[in-house]
Amino acid sequence: MSSKDVLVGVIGGSGLYHLDNLTFVERVNPETPWGYPSAPITICSLPSGCKIAFLARHGPHHSIQPSEVPSRANISALKSLGVRVILAFSAVGSLREEIAPGSFVIPTQIIDRTKGIRPASFFEGTNVVAHAAFGDPYSLKLVRWLEVRAEKALADEGRGVALHKDKCIVCMEGPQFSTRAESNMYRAWGGDLINMSALPEAKLAREAELSYALIATVTDYDSWRPHSEAVTAAEVFKTLADNANTSRHVAAAVLEDLHAAALDGDILSEENGSMRFSIMPRT
Ligand code: ADE
Repeated sequence: MSSKDVLVGVIGGSGLYHLDNLTFVERVNPETPWGYPSAPITICSLPSGCKIAFLARHGPHHSIQPSEVPSRANISALKSLGVRVILAFSAVGSLREEIAPGSFVIPTQIIDRTKGIRPASFFEGTNVVAHAAFGDPYSLKLVRWLEVRAEKALADEGRGVALHKDKCIVCMEGPQFSTRAESNMYRAWGGDLINMSALPEAKLAREAELSYALIATVTDYDSWRPHSEAVTAAEVFKTLADNANTSRHVAAAVLEDLHAAALDGDILSEENGSMRFSIMPRT
């Protein structure tokens, strides 16, 4: 296999530990300057013969806490295989009544409520001072491309899964869920979704000049609903399996075209060379 065949990477979150609806090719485990990725990366082929890379963010048996995901190694390992576009999946809680458990969301904004304990830059510990542009944390060309295809894939699946767009995700540290007061505060701030894994992955993808979008899969209502129980892990587990099956369906439906779009280059154009404008000149 020429590693340059692999242009598209998929990162699976809670519940999504494999894409076994695609054809298995091989498993690779690249060592990076930041160590090994969360799990060996599975290379799969699609019917046209093109290949994609799949990585389970929390490890194949979900043994890695959100705060301990080796995100720098994950992004670096995928990039070392030739990946230029990442489609990430992540389980999220909902902060809005209209975003029901079981629905899918492609967010466009993030509020960072991690506590600074996750290594969040490839430049940490170096003498290069870099400030990546992050006003639009997801790659908007990729997001718009994906919205249309994901919506069609969900309609074709026929389970009635809704797709929400242009939403804001709060990424909190955890591992405990939010208090009711925090959950209400995030709503007042404009948050629509909440999870523990959206960052620093998106920041690192931007520093690595990769095109990156998230499909957030809703598992629960967070703890803001006055007459409902506060969210529990058991609540989250209930929807994980169905959401993972739908995620595999969406991935299979969009990946072939995504590979072609990445080859064509247009959806990569926003990120290509973007760090050129982010490095502080030495005086
Ligand atoms: N991941 C899934 N549901 C969540 C929630 N309610 N809060 C934080 N992370 C989550």
